[in-house]
Amino acid sequence: MVQLGQIALSILSLTGWLDRPVSPSLDLLLGKGPAIHPQTPPAVSKSIAIVGAGSGGLAVLKTLLDLPEEVRASWDIALYDQRRDVGGLWLEDPNPPHPPTLPETPLYPRLRTNTPHPTMTYPGFTFPPKTPLFPTYEYVQQYHADFATTYNLTSHIHLNHTVLAAGWNGTREEGKWVVDIGRTDVPEQVVRKSFDHLIVANGHNHYPRIPHWPGEDEWLANTPIGSPKREILHSIFYRYPERYINRTVVIVGGGASGRDAALQVGPLTETYQSLKEGAYPPDGAKVTVKPPISHFTSEAVVFIDGTSLPSVDALILATGYEFRVPFLTRIPRNSGIKSPALITDPATYANSTTARVLTSNLRYIFPLYEHIFSLAPQYPPTALSFVGLPVLIANCPSDRAQSLLISHAIADPSILPSRTDMFGKLVEREGKLRELNLDPYVVGHKMQGGDNEAQAYQNSLVRYLKQVGSLPDDGVDYVEPWRRMARNESILLSRAWSRVENLKEADRWLDGIETEDEWADLMYRLADWQAQWEEQHGKGVDRYAAA
Ligand SMILES: Cc1cc2nc3c(=O)[nH]c(=O)nc-3n(C[C@H](O)[C@H](O)[C@H](O)COP(=O)(O)OP(=O)(O)OC[C@H]3O[C@@H](n4cnc5c(N)ncnc54)[C@H](O)[C@@H]3O)c2cc1C
Ligand SMILES: *[C@@H]1O[C@H](CO)[C@@H](O)[C@H](O)[C@H]1NC(C)=O
Ligand SMILES: *[C@@H]1O[C@H](CO)[C@@H](O)[C@H](O)[C@H]1NC(C)=O
Ligand SMILES: *[C@@H]1O[C@H](CO)[C@@H](O)[C@H](O)[C@H]1NC(C)=O
Ligand SMILES: *[C@@H]1O[C@H](CO)[C@@H](O)[C@H](O)[C@H]1NC(C)=O
Ligand SMILES: *[C@@H]1O[C@H](CO)[C@@H](O)[C@H](O)[C@H]1NC(C)=O
Ligand SMILES: *[C@@H]1O[C@H](CO)[C@@H](O)[C@H](O)[C@H]1NC(C)=O
Repeated sequence: MVQLGQIALSILSLTGWLDRPVSPSLDLLLGKGPAIHPQTPPAVSKSIAIVGAGSGGLAVLKTLLDLPEEVRASWDIALYDQRRDVGGLWLEDPNPPHPPTLPETPLYPRLRTNTPHPTMTYPGFTFPPKTPLFPTYEYVQQYHADFATTYNLTSHIHLNHTVLAAGWNGTREEGKWVVDIGRTDVPEQVVRKSFDHLIVANGHNHYPRIPHWPGEDEWLANTPIGSPKREILHSIFYRYPERYINRTVVIVGGGASGRDAALQVGPLTETYQSLKEGAYPPDGAKVTVKPPISHFTSEAVVFIDGTSLPSVDALILATGYEFRVPFLTRIPRNSGIKSPALITDPATYANSTTARVLTSNLRYIFPLYEHIFSLAPQYPPTALSFVGLPVLIANCPSDRAQSLLISHAIADPSILPSRTDMFGKLVEREGKLRELNLDPYVVGHKMQGGDNEAQAYQNSLVRYLKQVGSLPDDGVDYVEPWRRMARNESILLSRAWSRVENLKEADRWLDGIETEDEWADLMYRLADWQAQWEEQHGKGVDRYAAA
């Protein structure tokens, strides 16, 4: 049975997501009758550290603060980010990268979103009026900054603060995180704090995955006289396409980064894109497709079909990123703590059943319940949680769904299934992937089933909170129908928006669009407008306007 107190708490906890707070009274819920004063859980003092002020960290800070005042009044909530402002990877790094030192962000000056911004929002908080449907990165960073100020998150956010090391000082039942925090601007100043809960939202586009091929060193060392120095750089270092003028370039990989590099570099110089079987370059890219690389000779890049390219000067490795949490692999100095909270050592490679400590094989962090709670045996499941691990998902809405579960579980750990049941669910999920002939330890946190799986995942997290009474059951799925449509039609919408911009009609389309419903309606109209035009002009004609 759902308790009245919970209903009241839940409604309060939702209001924070509306622009104009509403406060339905309990009477309204219960019909008429005398006001009932709900039992509120006793205030328990807790301390919570969040790492990262990108989409994930801001989402969980907000859902924690949205818990009823009487639940979280005595909680100490601190968010740390090493950078100078919020927004995570959408915050520009004004300094050019100096490989192999990793840059603060993979962001490049010509980065625009590849999804329409209304699909990227925290539900209920839109981009400002007049924002182009596929905005440049500045809008996305500003959106996060606006989110933080609008919802008064700022006083909890400690910028220029790096979490250096975090270790668990305690048992399977209780204990604290010992956390060393440094200052970016005053490096010698390190403070040690302890927290009951640690929430990791450190992003997963920061540690490049760099493949190696036989012969690459010899090739690199053998720049022909008069040619630009040969180089192999990961896309995290990519900034300006002009840098590649007069060079022959091979882009390796066909994900979002590879597609952008192909579209930007391709028109400027001789460009090849090395792709796995079944992958294609983006519409409109001027590239020659090659299969995967086999090896290098001192003269040439050799591909698996036996062909080779002798004239290559530069490779851009758009080969993705590794899942790393460096501060969890470091034990705070002189803390007496024996082992790190997370290991990445391939020699100790285990699986979810056999892992004795939280493990990353660099593609997948395990064992985690729902990509969120660590089921490592050293501490309770709410002690360590992650926001933002799923890949191929709309981040802000997914971050928020995950954050709701984390926040309510921290408030009341009894809403979570037992450790055994959570474990069972994880093993079941991994088993299902194997049935599809996929290795869960390679697929990792990818939403393999695309938008359908990504949306089902978010719906199930929120539905669960309704089932256990943490949120009121409105009988509605979490992911709104318009968001489903626009995610599904995002390529059509990007062709539509290119055409709008080419026709210089952006202002007309955006005029008066302000609320979430209006943005949704705009996308339905644009999708219809484009689909109709493409039908009239025959298949293929749309390609000239490819985004
Ligand atoms: C080039 C590129 C383009 C993309 N384009 C799109 C798009 O168009 N649409 C879309 O939906 N998604 C896109 N994405 C996906 C993107 O990952 C998400 O949109 C989202 O911004 C990720 O947010 P996050 O909070 O998980 O991580 P991040 O934005 O990476 O934020 C993590 C934060 O944690 C901080 N941090 C990390 N470690 C520490 C530490 N030890 N101490 C203190 N702070 C720390 C970092 O400084 C950073 O600010 C893109 C990704 C990339 C790389
Ligand atoms: C962060 O550090 C930068 C210098 O690196 C400084 O300009 C900025 O004011 C600092 N911000 C905060 C909030 O401390
Ligand atoms: C933010 O704080 C201000 C001043 O304390 C307050 O007036 C405002 O209502 C708060 N806004 C939200 C969304 O909580
Ligand atoms: C490219 O090569 C041409 C011909 O050698 C030269 O004129 C031009 O300046 C070069 N451009 C760049 C950006 O290096
Ligand atoms: C670890 O916990 C013990 C017992 O609570 C405490 O005495 C000790 O100071 C803690 N160590 C650190 C480094 O916080
Ligand atoms: C982990 O490996 C063990 C031993 O190989 C195996 O019995 C078990 O089923 C595996 N569990 C998972 C979740 O893959
Ligand atoms: C998704 O888009 C495809 C292609 O436009 C369409 O055939 C399909 O019906 C759409 N599905 C949903 C759920 O909207």
